[in-house]
Amino acid sequence: MVSAMPAGEKGRLRLGVNIDHVATVRNARGGPYPDPVRAARVAEAAGADGITAHLREDRRHITDEDIDALMADLRLPLNLEMAATEEMQAIALRHRPHAVCIVPERREERTTEGGLDVAREEKRLAGFIAPLREAGSRVSIFIAADRRQVEAAHRIGAPVIELHTGAYCEAHLAGDQRERDAELARLAEMAAHAESLGLEVHAGHGLSYDTVKPIAAIPQLMELNIGHFLIGEAIYVGLDAAIRRMRALMDEARG
Ligand code: PXP
Repeated sequence: MVSAMPAGEKGRLRLGVNIDHVATVRNARGGPYPDPVRAARVAEAAGADGITAHLREDRRHITDEDIDALMADLRLPLNLEMAATEEMQAIALRHRPHAVCIVPERREERTTEGGLDVAREEKRLAGFIAPLREAGSRVSIFIAADRRQVEAAHRIGAPVIELHTGAYCEAHLAGDQRERDAELARLAEMAAHAESLGLEVHAGHGLSYDTVKPIAAIPQLMELNIGHFLIGEAIYVGLDAAIRRMRALMDEARG
């Protein structure tokens, strides 16, 4: 059964492990393995604080059956990532996961390429998240580190935002130190601003061993959600070791 998110001592950054790409590998052959639920159990044993899964409109990785199984079998809290559609809202209201993270979604994208434009559809999103909150799910909104978006997320009544770290990670991969530093500064500034508004702040997307520490060092962050790199690294060292190393880097960054 899914329990409440562990109380997370002040200062300890929570790690949510995103298991989408275990399902991607499984779906490449259409059989039962590798099983994302088993990955979630390994993640729990390795010290993850939560499991994140993105049920996409096209079900390219996580499926409805995976969500059923995760809700039934997991002891860790589930963070269900989903687009702001009626279909997804009905699924979330049926399951009432610990957390729901609203993300933008376009079929043609390879991954979640940017943050949600909350400022453009404030009214609709306010109405969309209200029943999810009433159902007891902690709602977060995945946005870029942009003041307009942070303030719009606050206005619609979201208690949590997740800042998109993709641009920072891409600048790192491109070797563009100046852009990497600029993105990092934006993320730090918006984390502080969001906290000053009373929002809980999370971050994620594209993080790796090489990029996690400066993000984990941002003191306002309460949770990081990391998936693709960990599942890839698991090919070489195993999922347990990959998660433990990521956890250790996060703890080092927090001193
Ligand atoms: N957070 C959110 C909101 C996401 O959409 C994703 C990707 O599904 C992640 C975190 C994890 O990103 P990655 O798989 O690149 O670590």
